[in-house]
Formats: sequence, structure tokens, C-alpha cells
Amino acid sequence: MNKVFLLFITFSILCLSPVSAAVYKGQRVFVKKCVKCHDAGQAFIAKKKIRTWKKLMKKKGKPLADLHLKSQKAKESWNYFKSSTYYRKSRHLKQFLVEYAKDSGNVPACD
Ligand code: HEC
Repeated sequence: MNKVFLLFITFSILCLSPVSAAVYKGQRVFVKKCVKCHDAGQAFIAKKKIRTWKKLMKKKGKPLADLHLKSQKAKESWNYFKSSTYYRKSRHLKQFLVEYAKDSGNVPACD
């Protein structure tokens, strides 16, 4: 919880550069849904290139969902990856992931 909160602060308050609404929405999805199992923020997102994220998030994020649905270890996320909420918001999530991909040149914190 603390970690999530900190990430949120770093992203939205310290960073004064305007972030597009979609990226912001995607960030909220990521913080709420992914951080409990994956590294917070950049450490995880910046491991992949734009192309990789785009591939995982094509067809409204189907490849990413399938990858989790196939893994017993990701069981806790199954309800989410099967839900319509996931597909409805996958566009934003994609924009967020691509925005901070390894080769995007963007960093969430602005220093
Ligand atoms: C319940 C825990 C859980 C949640 C929630 C979860 N994941 Fe995962 N994720 C996993 C596990 C476990 C794997 C490893 C699957 C395997 O290979 O067995 C994985 C694998 C991945 C991979 C591929 C592995 C890699 O590093 O290349 C990506 C990308 C990924 N997750 C992104 C996400 C995103 C984005 C979200 C939020 C929408 C998310 N995950 C939510 C547990 C989770």
C-alpha cells in the first residue's frame, strides 16, 4: 500500500510535466492492477521495448491476458484478465506502457 502510494506521488505530484489523460488513466490501471505482482513502475515497464509492449497489448491486450491465464502463478489475476474492465481500459494501459518503455526516452519522474 505504501509503495503504491509513493509511486503515485512520484508520478503525479512531483512531476509537473503534463501527462496526457490516457497515459494517466493507464497509470492508474497499472498501479491498481499490476503493481501487487510486478515491480512498481519504471523498473518493470522499462525492461521492455515499445514494440514488445505493443505486441502484448494488441487486440485489446489479449496476448497479455492469455499469458496470465496460462500461468498458475498468476491465478490471482485471472478474474481481472477475464473481465470486461480489463478490455475496456486496455487502450489506456497500452499507452502508459508504451510511453515508459525502454526505448521511449521518457522517464516517469522528471529530473
Ligand atoms: C496475480 C499476480 C499478477 C498480476 C495482478 C499481474 N501479473 Fe503479470 N505476471 C504474473 C506472473 C506470475 C507472470 C509469469 C507468468 C509465467 O510465465 O508463468 C506474469 C507475467 C507478466 C508478463 C510477461 C513476463 C515478462 O516479464 O516478460 C508481463 C509483461 C506482465 N505480466 C504484465 C502485467 C501487467 C501489465 C499487469 C497489469 C494489467 C499484470 N502483469 C498483472 C503475475 C501477475
